[in-house]
Amino acid sequence: MNIYKNKNVFISGHSGFKGSWLYLFLENLGSNVFGYSLKPNTNPSHFTLMGGSNYFNGIFADIRDQNTLSASISDFNPHIIFHLAAQPLVRESYKNPIETFEVNSFGILNLLYTIHKSKDKLTNLKAIVIITTDKVYHNEEWIWGYRENDKLGGYDPYSASKACGEIIADSMRSSFFNINEFGKLHNILIATARAGNVIGGGDFSADRLIPDLIYGIINSKTTIIRNPLATRPWQNVLEPLRGYLMLGEKLLQGDTSFANSFNFGPDISGNIRVIDMLEIAKEIWGKIDYKVETSKNNPHEATLLMLDTSKAYHLLQWKPKLSTIDSIKSTINWYKEFIENKNIITQQQLKCYMGGGLH
Ligand SMILES: NC(=O)c1ccc[n+]([C@@H]2O[C@H](COP(=O)([O-])OP(=O)(O)OC[C@H]3O[C@@H](n4cnc5c(N)ncnc54)[C@H](O)[C@@H]3O)[C@@H](O)[C@H]2O)c1
Repeated sequence: MNIYKNKNVFISGHSGFKGSWLYLFLENLGSNVFGYSLKPNTNPSHFTLMGGSNYFNGIFADIRDQNTLSASISDFNPHIIFHLAAQPLVRESYKNPIETFEVNSFGILNLLYTIHKSKDKLTNLKAIVIITTDKVYHNEEWIWGYRENDKLGGYDPYSASKACGEIIADSMRSSFFNINEFGKLHNILIATARAGNVIGGGDFSADRLIPDLIYGIINSKTTIIRNPLATRPWQNVLEPLRGYLMLGEKLLQGDTSFANSFNFGPDISGNIRVIDMLEIAKEIWGKIDYKVETSKNNPHEATLLMLDTSKAYHLLQWKPKLSTIDSIKSTINWYKEFIENKNIITQQQLKCYMGGGLH
C-alpha cells in the first residue's frame, strides 16, 4: 500500500468509529489526511480518546451542506476520498427515517454532484470509495452469502437508505464518471464497498452489541440481548478497512475494472449468532454480563445475513487475516485495557495488524 504515501486523503465520517481508525491507518501509511464530519455524538468516543481536534486534521460540518463540502474538498485537493459519513444505526433509522435517508442517500448524491461540479479544480482526484453496508441486499433470510450482483433492497430505513445510496452512486457513475469516458472527459473512478458487522475498540454507539456490553460493565448493569439468534458477518474493523484501502489502491492506479461494488466480510466460519459471540466474549472477559429478553415489540431486524467475498478474494487478493476468535479477542482486549488501565491501545493494535496479526 505504498501508493498512499504522501497522498492527500479526504475521509468523511472521520469522527466516527470506523472513520477514526481509517484516519490512523492512513497516517501509518504516510498519507496526509483531512476529515469531514459532525462532532462525535458519544461520550467517550474513539475520536476524542485519540486526541480529538488537537490530533485529527479536519472540519466539523454537515455532509448535506453543499457549499462547505465543496469548499473543503477543493481546498484540500485530495487524491482519493473515502466516504463513511452516515447515520449508521438500524434502530435510530426507525425513529428518524427522513434524516437517515437525507444523510445516507442524499449525502452520497451531494458528495458526487459536488465533485462533478468542481472536478476541474480537483486536479489530484482519481478515486472515490463509498462505504455502504452488507444490509444493502434484499434480505431473503437464506443460508447463502449475498453476491455483489444480488438484488438490492432494505426492510428498515437504514438498509433502504444505503441501498438507495448504492443506486445513486451507480447513476452518478454512469452519468458523470462513466468508465468509458475515463481519461477523456474525467479522471475519477468510483467504487462502493459493502462490509458486514464491524467490531473493534473504541465503538461507543448505542444499540450495538459490543458497546452495549461495555456500557453494562461501566454502569454495573446487566445488558439485555434482544436478538440472540441473529447471524451476522462479524469482523474486526481493521479487516474491511484494509479492503477499502486495497480497493482504493486499484482506483488510484486507474484500473477501471474496479469501479464497481465489492463485499468485505469474514470467512464462512465468522458468520456466527449473537449468542455465540456473547459466549466467546464472556469467556475472554468474565465481567461481561447479559440476559436474553426477546419481545414481539422489537422493530424488525434481519435474522440471517452473510456475504460472499469471492470477488474481493479473486480480484483484489483480499481475504480476512484474523480468525473470528482473534477478532473478538482483540476487540475485548481494547476495552479491557481502556476500562481497567485507562490505556488506549489503538496504535499498538494497528502496528500489530500491519505486521501481520492481532490478538
Ligand atoms: N459499524 C458497522 O458495523 C458498520 C457495518 C457496515 C457499514 N458501516 C458503515 O460504515 C460507516 C461508518 O460507520 P461507523 O460505525 O463508524 O459509524 P459512526 O456513527 O461511529 O460514525 C459515523 C460518522 O458519520 C458522521 N456523520 C453522521 N451524520 C453526518 C452528517 N449529517 N454530516 C457529516 N457527517 C456525518 C459522524 O459525525 C461520524 O463521523 C457508515 O457509513 C456505516 O453505515 C458500519
